[in-house]
Amino acid sequence: MKNNKRKVIFDCDPGLDDALALLLALASDNLDILAVTTIAGNTTIENTTQNALDLLYFYGRSDIPVSRGNANPLLGNFSMGAHVHGKRGIGSVELKSSPAQEHSLRAHDLIRKLLMESDEKITIIATGPLTNIALAITLYPEIIEKIELISMMGGSLNVGNIGAATEANAGNDPEATHIILSCGVPIAMFGLHLTYTTQIYPKDMDRIESIGGTFAKTIADFNRFHFQFYKNELGFKGDPSHDSCAVAYLINPDIFTMEEYNVVMDLDGKYSRGQTIVDLYNVTQRKPNVLFGMKSNREAFVELVYDSVLKLSYKLSK
Ligand code: RIB
Ligand code: CA
Repeated sequence: MKNNKRKVIFDCDPGLDDALALLLALASDNLDILAVTTIAGNTTIENTTQNALDLLYFYGRSDIPVSRGNANPLLGNFSMGAHVHGKRGIGSVELKSSPAQEHSLRAHDLIRKLLMESDEKITIIATGPLTNIALAITLYPEIIEKIELISMMGGSLNVGNIGAATEANAGNDPEATHIILSCGVPIAMFGLHLTYTTQIYPKDMDRIESIGGTFAKTIADFNRFHFQFYKNELGFKGDPSHDSCAVAYLINPDIFTMEEYNVVMDLDGKYSRGQTIVDLYNVTQRKPNVLFGMKSNREAFVELVYDSVLKLSYKLSK
C-alpha cells in the first residue's frame, strides 16, 4: 500500500550531528527513509559507513539499507573532523555493532536505482560533502528530474569552519557543490551562519536526558561531546546542531526563515575556494537557484529535537 510520507535518501558522514539528524528523520511520521548513503568527511568512509549501520541498529531501523559512498572528494582530500567528532566520528559513545551488512551497490548507484525505480519524486537529505550526489548526477543525468528537493547542510553566508568563510561540507568538495548548485534541482540550503545559532543548550541536553533510559542519555551525550569543541574553542553557549536543520525543515518548515537567492561556488579563489557566494541583492541578475535558510527559531527547533527523542525512546522501550 502506498503511504503519503515524503520519500527520502539520507546522504551523510556520521558524525555526531549527523547522528541526531538521522534520529529526527526516523522519528518523523512525514518521512520515509529509503536508504542511508555514506560519505567520508567527519571521519573515514570505513567509520562513517559502520557508524551509519550501528546508528540505524541503535535506532531500531537496521532494515534500512546502508550504502558506502566515496572515500575522497572529486579532487584532492577531505579535511576530517576528529577534533570535533572524536576518532571514530561518534564521540565517546560505544554503540553495539550492527548485524546488518552494507548494501552491495555503491552510493551513487543505489541513489540512481532508487530514483529511477520510484514512481514519485524523492527528496535527498545531504549532511556531508556532496560527492556521492554529484557523481550520481554526472553519471546518470536522467535522475535530475526525479529529485524532488535536496535539503542540505552546507555552505555559509559569511562564516567558515575549514577556511575563514568556507564551510566543511560545501568546501570539502567544491566541484561536487558546484555540480549540485548548477544542475537545476530544487535546493534548500542550511549554511553555517544559521546552524551556528541553532544551538542546543546544556539545559536542553539535561532535559533530553531526563526522559530517562540509556537511549535518551546516549543522545544527550552525542550533543555534549559535540558541544565540547564549540564551547572550548569558540566560546559557544550551546551545541550548534548543523545537520538537524536540513531535516527539521522537512518536518516543520516554519522553524526557518527561508529566502530565494542565487548561490554559486567559488572554485578558483586563493582564499575563497570552496566558499558559497550568495547574491543577497541580486547584483548579478542570475536566477535564484536556492531556497536559503537565513535564520531559525531556536526554541521551536529544540522542542522538535526533544519530541523526537521522546517519541523514539518510547517506541524502542515497547
Ligand atoms: O560544517 C558542519 C558540517 O560539517 C556538518 O555536516 C558536520 O557534520 C560536518 O560534516
Ligand atoms: Ca555531517
